[in-house]
Amino acid sequence: MRCSGVCSFILLIAVLASPALQSTAQMDVWSSGGVHPVMLKADADPTTCAQCHNNIGKGKYVHTAMGMGCTTCHQIQNEKGVTHVNLVAPVNQLCLTCHPLAGEKVLHGPYKSGDCIVCHSPHASDFPQQTWAAHQDICLGCHARARLKVNNRKKTVTVPWGVTLTLAQMQGWMYLNLNQTLTANHPVEGHPISGPNTALGPQAPPITCMSCHNAHASNFTYMLIKTPPAAGESLCKTCGLCLECHRNMFP
Ligand code: HEC
Ligand code: HEC
Ligand code: HEC
Ligand code: HEC
Ligand code: HEC
Ligand code: HEC
Ligand code: HEC
Repeated sequence: MRCSGVCSFILLIAVLASPALQSTAQMDVWSSGGVHPVMLKADADPTTCAQCHNNIGKGKYVHTAMGMGCTTCHQIQNEKGVTHVNLVAPVNQLCLTCHPLAGEKVLHGPYKSGDCIVCHSPHASDFPQQTWAAHQDICLGCHARARLKVNNRKKTVTVPWGVTLTLAQMQGWMYLNLNQTLTANHPVEGHPISGPNTALGPQAPPITCMSCHNAHASNFTYMLIKTPPAAGESLCKTCGLCLECHRNMFP
């Protein structure tokens, strides 16, 4: 990992490299497979779930798989008069059964390890692609120091939308050295990361992390959407990424 003068990040490699922290990679976000408070028939019709769980699946953006029924992902197991509702696959493999990992060269840590529900609701939310928050807030949730709550004693981090991860799950992560309002200073000093795209004019969509990065994967370093500047180069006349918005700066 490289960190030049214009991009200074606080790296927590030292903490994260501690072998004691790398053993558990299991989500401890929601209880999976706990005892269900109500006995259910093993062959319960998926529509019965909605009688009690009528809040599940409510939101502007509903996961397409919800149309396939609750038991596509949750299985009912009755044992000794107690119902357990388990996921049909471990939580970090469930999503991959229908959405295989991208084949690109660079994969984002939490995506690669199958921690999909850190960013996405499995059911529904009010944000596109049923993410727990607006895409920009999702990114800042882990990469802005002001947003991520670190509990050094428990060796966990908690993102603003309430999901808790172990430090092992966060291996390699880094904060961006942003300004106080979390609007600028990346990838070069003073560069906007949000707000109107004044480089292209008022018709252009506003700048977000997604103007330059993919969320899951890409064939370019740092999951950039196009060719980034070469190492040590900040202003780049030939790289596709900067030219997206700065054709005028490089006549
Ligand atoms: C008679 C009411 C009722 C029905 C029917 C019902 N549930 Fe629940 N379920 C509850 C309550 C109450 C809880 C505990 C509070 C909560 O998490 O909402 C719960 C919790 C859960 C949980 C989280 C806890 C755990 O066991 O892991 C899951 C998952 C779940 N239900 C799935 C289902 C599915 C799938 C169905 C349909 C096959 C279903 N439920 C049908 C009442 C019900
Ligand atoms: C049983 C198969 C299945 C499983 C399991 C599954 N999905 Fe999906 N998902 C689909 C289908 C079908 C679509 C719609 C077509 C597409 O975009 O691939 C979809 C679409 C999506 C979308 C795009 C928005 C939408 O809903 O159309 C997201 C985001 C998503 N899934 C996330 C997840 C996550 C996170 C998990 C794990 C909790 C998961 N999926 C598990 C079948 C599944
Ligand atoms: C695409 C897969 C998928 C489908 C379809 C699905 N769930 Fe879930 N559900 C999950 C996952 C993943 C979790 C998180 C479990 C964990 O962390 O162990 C979850 C958690 C839950 C929980 C506990 C947490 C919470 O949000 O309250 C309940 C209750 C629940 N599901 C009910 C339902 C019901 C009812 C349906 C159908 C209307 C349904 N689910 C459909 C994947 C799914
Ligand atoms: C770091 C947060 C994050 C993680 C982790 C993550 N996603 Fe996403 N995902 C996003 C965002 C943000 C988008 C919207 C991307 C866009 O609009 O360019 C998205 C889009 C999607 C889509 C719809 C577009 C597409 O690529 O087909 C699917 C399906 C999806 N994610 C599934 C998954 C699955 C499966 C996993 C786990 C293997 C996962 N995501 C992990 C943030 C995340
Ligand atoms: C749950 C926490 C979490 C969230 C949310 C998150 N990241 Fe990350 N990110 C990480 C971790 C952990 C790493 C280090 C592992 C790796 O290199 O991918 C990382 C690394 C990166 C890297 C460097 C990848 C490389 O090649 O070294 C980029 C770029 C990045 N994230 C962008 C984003 C963007 C854009 C979003 C929003 C869509 C986002 N992150 C949301 C945890 C997160
Ligand atoms: C204008 C384009 C642009 C925008 C907008 C942008 N990035 Fe970047 N990002 C880059 C470039 C270029 C690099 C590579 C920096 C380098 O070479 O040091 C990078 C690198 C990163 C890295 C890796 C840093 C490291 O040292 O490994 C992370 C994490 C990251 N970006 C997250 C984000 C997040 C989160 C957002 C939104 C808040 C964002 N980026 C917005 C262009 C951008
Ligand atoms: C999504 C659009 C977008 C992309 C991609 C982008 N920029 Fe920018 N950049 C802007 C905006 C908007 C400003 C604010 C100044 C302006 O209006 O030109 C800016 C300002 C700058 C400035 C300060 C210029 C000044 O007038 O002081 C530099 C230097 C810069 N960008 C370099 C880069 C580099 C290097 C890249 C590629 C890694 C890049 N930008 C990619 C939108 C972008």
